[in-house]
Amino acid sequence: MSKIPAVCVTGGRGQLGQSIKSLVDENTCFKFSFPTREELDLSDAKSIEAYFKEHAVDIIINCAAYTAVDKAESEQKLADQVNHLAVKQLANTALAQQAKLIHISTDYVFSGKHFKPYEETDAVDPQSIYGLSKLKGEQALSQIMPVNAMIIRTSWVFSEFGHNFVKTMLRLSEQREELNVIYDQVGTPTYAGDLAQAILRIIKNNTFSQTNLKTDIYHYTNEGVCSWYDFACSVFEISHKKCLVKPIETKEYPTPAKRPNYSLLNKSKIKQTYGINIPYWKDSLKQCLNKIQDSKA
Ligand SMILES: NC(=O)c1ccc[n+]([C@@H]2O[C@H](COP(=O)([O-])OP(=O)(O)OC[C@H]3O[C@@H](n4cnc5c(N)ncnc54)[C@H](OP(=O)(O)O)[C@@H]3O)[C@@H](O)[C@H]2O)c1
Repeated sequence: MSKIPAVCVTGGRGQLGQSIKSLVDENTCFKFSFPTREELDLSDAKSIEAYFKEHAVDIIINCAAYTAVDKAESEQKLADQVNHLAVKQLANTALAQQAKLIHISTDYVFSGKHFKPYEETDAVDPQSIYGLSKLKGEQALSQIMPVNAMIIRTSWVFSEFGHNFVKTMLRLSEQREELNVIYDQVGTPTYAGDLAQAILRIIKNNTFSQTNLKTDIYHYTNEGVCSWYDFACSVFEISHKKCLVKPIETKEYPTPAKRPNYSLLNKSKIKQTYGINIPYWKDSLKQCLNKIQDSKA
């Protein structure tokens, strides 16, 4: 009897990690583990080494990251450790264990000066410490693993889990009657549940199972386009909250980290290669808001 492949999902308490966990049932053809930060600390090379000495894996799905975009501007070393050096070590580990590695990255590797959706091969130019640390992680991985790895760049992740824009808007609407939200940053929200489903589909796909699969970058977000302002309006419209949203410009809401004004990602490659149908972001937002509502009931 052939053995059941072992899949290690890092960042199991994060939005994407929890979304994957919620989709994994006991009848799966994989054996999943979701180590906590206490068991596998990506800011500590010794912790990574010790964990993988104890645990043999066939697939690593790296959902863990230093995701505090503004804080990264003053915590450059820690952001680099988690988003770059740890990814390098995970790639070396995967190589040594002959495992495959799926690594999640970000639209913030781009400058945001584009006028049409970014393709995987478009020039990168991160504008923030976070974006730079994630880019260095991508580059280290591609160099160490020319085969058997996959980088999935995503954007504006929301879910019923953890901290995100949707939950912040809902919380603020309980405290205020009016909110100022940026309208000159345009992108696509990504429901973590949809991305989780796509990842599970990918690991079951014959293309992914090939030996010596060429390492490549893919883009995944939901379908559609909006600004943060539109996103906020939709959250309130769908959840029937009476909160006035006022559109403001980025310059009226200064933050430590610079964010791209335009970060739409072209998703043709992942759709064609893996036969993935991607839902429209507003449909997934409705689904997410229903789950948030149900969890309160
Ligand atoms: N959120 C977004 O809008 C967004 C946009 C584009 C790309 N992405 C990328 O998508 C991926 C998933 O993001 P997400 O939204 O699920 O992130 P998240 O909710 O912030 O979760 C990040 C996870 O990483 C873990 N982590 C952080 N530092 C760690 C460390 N030193 N050792 C071990 N684990 C550590 C956290 O652990 P604890 O739970 O213990 O804190 C948490 O489980 C990341 O690669 C992120 O860069 C996210």
